[in-house]
Amino acid sequence: MFQLNQYKSKSGAVRIFLLLVLSSFCLNAQTKVSPGENDIPHLKRQGTAMQLIVKGKPFLMLAGETGNSSASDLNYMDAIWPKIVKMHLNTLVVPVYWELIEPKEGEFNFTLVDGIITAARQNNIKLVFLWFGTWKNSMSCYAPLWIKTDEKRFPRARERNGRAEEILTAFSKTNRNADARAFSALMKHVREFDGQDQTVVMVQVENEIGMIPDARDYCKSADEAFNNAVPEEFINYLKENKDRLNPHLYDMWKTNGFKTKGNWEEIFGKSIAADEIFMAWNFARYTNYVAEAGKKEYPLPMYVNAALIRPGYKPGQYPSGGPLPHLMDVWKAAAPAINFLAPDVYFQNFAEWVSKYDVPAGKPGQMFNQFFIPEVGNNQSVVNAYYAFAQHNIMGYSPFSIESLPDPADNQVSKGYDVLAQLTPLILSNQGKGTMAGVMLDSASQTSKIKLGDYVFIVHHEYSWPYAPKAEGVNPRYGGMIIMVSPDEFFVAGRGMVITFETASNDGSVAGIGSIDEGKFVDGKWVPGLRMNGDQSHQGRHLDLPGNTFSIQKIRLYRYK
Ligand code: DGJ
Repeated sequence: MFQLNQYKSKSGAVRIFLLLVLSSFCLNAQTKVSPGENDIPHLKRQGTAMQLIVKGKPFLMLAGETGNSSASDLNYMDAIWPKIVKMHLNTLVVPVYWELIEPKEGEFNFTLVDGIITAARQNNIKLVFLWFGTWKNSMSCYAPLWIKTDEKRFPRARERNGRAEEILTAFSKTNRNADARAFSALMKHVREFDGQDQTVVMVQVENEIGMIPDARDYCKSADEAFNNAVPEEFINYLKENKDRLNPHLYDMWKTNGFKTKGNWEEIFGKSIAADEIFMAWNFARYTNYVAEAGKKEYPLPMYVNAALIRPGYKPGQYPSGGPLPHLMDVWKAAAPAINFLAPDVYFQNFAEWVSKYDVPAGKPGQMFNQFFIPEVGNNQSVVNAYYAFAQHNIMGYSPFSIESLPDPADNQVSKGYDVLAQLTPLILSNQGKGTMAGVMLDSASQTSKIKLGDYVFIVHHEYSWPYAPKAEGVNPRYGGMIIMVSPDEFFVAGRGMVITFETASNDGSVAGIGSIDEGKFVDGKWVPGLRMNGDQSHQGRHLDLPGNTFSIQKIRLYRYK
């Protein structure tokens, strides 16, 4: 956790900031603002969840990510803000481009950054900055031209055949230091410009890191590192965590006899999987250095995002060594300044990928990977968001290229986020407590059984209900979340679910529907609308959340024999 007292030992500039913050704290004290509101955005544990805290309160990011180029022109952005407000977003995920903030070596220009922050404030939107630094989707396309054109000073990765790539090598301190200097200048500027308002709440370091088209870099310094001993820090991590290592890493180490001394091939064998572990370590060390440099200036929560693996692809075909689930331990060992690893989910098996990233620690206090989903294909159902907020306690959800969705006042993101915004206080107070469950239904999974408290919810895809309106073909993705608010009372939100109930106890009791109300949350308070005890619940046989839009119903259950 990064709180104000961590500024103590930092540079003079940071001390000045501390003074500024403290003096504003005194001002705030006079205006009766409660203590703690001046903490910078940070992560805090609640039960099994990790939450983002902004100005002293948990914050759930109903986000969207802009297209890659959108934030390079403030006029272009002008047209985007009203759209995202209409879609009920509270957070925008936006790139900051190295080449544009440091067009000349050592000369920084933050006009774009300031413009984005100012506009976000005017629209009451928080920001997650994406640091498009050394790597963007494996490549180094956002490195400044003065770097790209000086390959002697800023060496490139090389393929196995010796060919130079459009990728800066991770095995150069000059590359790393140049990136770290720019990133720390950015974070210093964000702290100075935004430390009080706290519009920027989180930062992604680099973007979809990973080696292609070979599983590892073959430049001279990479070869040298590959033939050197595996660093002691990594070996120590392996030894200390042997009984709870990711199975992939464990097996690779085991196959080679759990050696504790040797080079990368000696410890992990000769394969592209071993090459990948080597890359993961070195990418993570580099990124950690950059993140640490930024955190010295302004320690916002920082994460890295991963391009996931297409079925059947091998390291090098997919970006090798990125922050992927099977490499989580490598990243954890090498990059302690990174708060979590995050998946960019463009595949339909959303639930499967997301569960791989939800890795609570084995021991209390060691929560490792509670996360934010910075990118999801914008054609995916927003049911995914409901599912992941409730089932995996995620901090935020963010469809990619959000501005390109048509009809912002009335598309599925706007409908889905409208209801999620109403539910936000309830979701936040229930995360990590075992009182919520996510539901995801489609053709492959048409029923889901969920136990909450003393009841079992049998959730059917709406298409299984003979009277439901349906389209021909595959079942669309339906589902949502169930939240228990008292032993017999539950909110059900989402779309396209028909739910029947059983009691969880083995005492022969039957679950009955006391009442069902549809309704809305207004300023965090439940305002019931129609009572649904007749045709709408098939005269008390089930709860039916229609598939045509997102909505909320509250149910009261009871038991009889
Ligand atoms: C994932 C990347 O992280 C984004 O920047 C963008 O390139 C998308 N892919 C495009 O689908």
